[in-house]
Amino acid sequence: MPRTVSSTTVGIVGGGPAGLMLSHLLHVAGIESVVIDLRTRDEIEHTHRAGILERDSVRLLVESGVSDRVLREGHEHSGIDLRFGGVSHRIDFQGLVGASTWLYPQTDVFVDLADARLRDGGDVRFGVTETSVVDVTSDRPGLLFTDADGVAHEVRCDVLVGADGSRSMTRLSVAGRKEYFRQYPFAWFGILCEAPPSAPLLIYTRSDRGFALISQRTDRVQRMYFQCSPEEAVDDWPEDRIWSELQARLAGEDGFTLKEGRIFEKTVLPFRSYVCEPMRHGNLLLAGDAAHTVPPTGAKGLNLALADVRVLAEVLERALRKNDRSALDDYTERALARVWRAQHFSYWMTTMLHSIEESSDFDVRRQLGELDAVAGSRAGATYLAEGYTGWPHG
Ligand code: PHB
Repeated sequence: MPRTVSSTTVGIVGGGPAGLMLSHLLHVAGIESVVIDLRTRDEIEHTHRAGILERDSVRLLVESGVSDRVLREGHEHSGIDLRFGGVSHRIDFQGLVGASTWLYPQTDVFVDLADARLRDGGDVRFGVTETSVVDVTSDRPGLLFTDADGVAHEVRCDVLVGADGSRSMTRLSVAGRKEYFRQYPFAWFGILCEAPPSAPLLIYTRSDRGFALISQRTDRVQRMYFQCSPEEAVDDWPEDRIWSELQARLAGEDGFTLKEGRIFEKTVLPFRSYVCEPMRHGNLLLAGDAAHTVPPTGAKGLNLALADVRVLAEVLERALRKNDRSALDDYTERALARVWRAQHFSYWMTTMLHSIEESSDFDVRRQLGELDAVAGSRAGATYLAEGYTGWPHG
């Protein structure tokens, strides 16, 4: 079939938050890009993901001119509650590190970015098929795809970016890559329910029955998770069973109970840690989940993706506007420094709070000792507060 051949400066595979934020930052720097995604805008908008933004993710959205809706409709959270032994311990981020996080769902971040790209005349093609990247080590790598109307395209670019998520096809073109994996013997059972918030802040709970996280969405919709087996079947969990399990994991001497309501969405979320090194091959660079995945404890996934593309936009501006191709060499090292810190942070939060079936009595007592050391020491709590609110960008 004949292809329509065109050219642009940066070809971006993936129209999630990483790809769209990069396209926006490049636009601000006067650099043209094309973004393609296999999913429709509607599909992306209705896929529930995490909901916590670090301080610098909020700044990036507002200060780069995407939108200030996060400040008007998001909720500032100045800490979290760590709950163990049936007692809650406040980790006061503002008091410890003078920073907050913002509750603002990833779907809203996506809507803001997609709207900003439309507003600024960006070229974003959702619902494409048959995508591939070619000639990634040449000076004119190509992006091939068929658009939603069935027209085949070949877009020649200076640089390609793979921001196509955890099942990335672009990363397969990173020849000689080394992949680091960690599987966990559990998953999260996530629900959305119609209920008012049960507490002002998020509650991360360790109980003998396993981990639970009480998060929020709006005044009338809440997001909650509990640790389950990766093979768990959602159909085995009618509403009553979910509520009694969550209530049991949160129960304690303070008499805390969750506010219950109709559950309208149930999903089992897989858990794994993954890093692909390097994050570049020739003129193809990877960003976000395409290059790394973290377990959801600590809500680092979206924040890491935004931090990646901030570095990437800077590196691309140097390479493309100032004609300094060696700038691309800096990307992997700069991005990976944060990626591995976040890998450790997510792994640490996960292992500190989840139950492992084969644990000995020693392991269980040690885990409680660790939680006590974090919640009961200013140094311990500050480490958590720094990592959770996010290490400064740049
Ligand atoms: C969420 O609200 O979806 C959420 C919040 C915090 C996490 C993970 C997920 O650590």
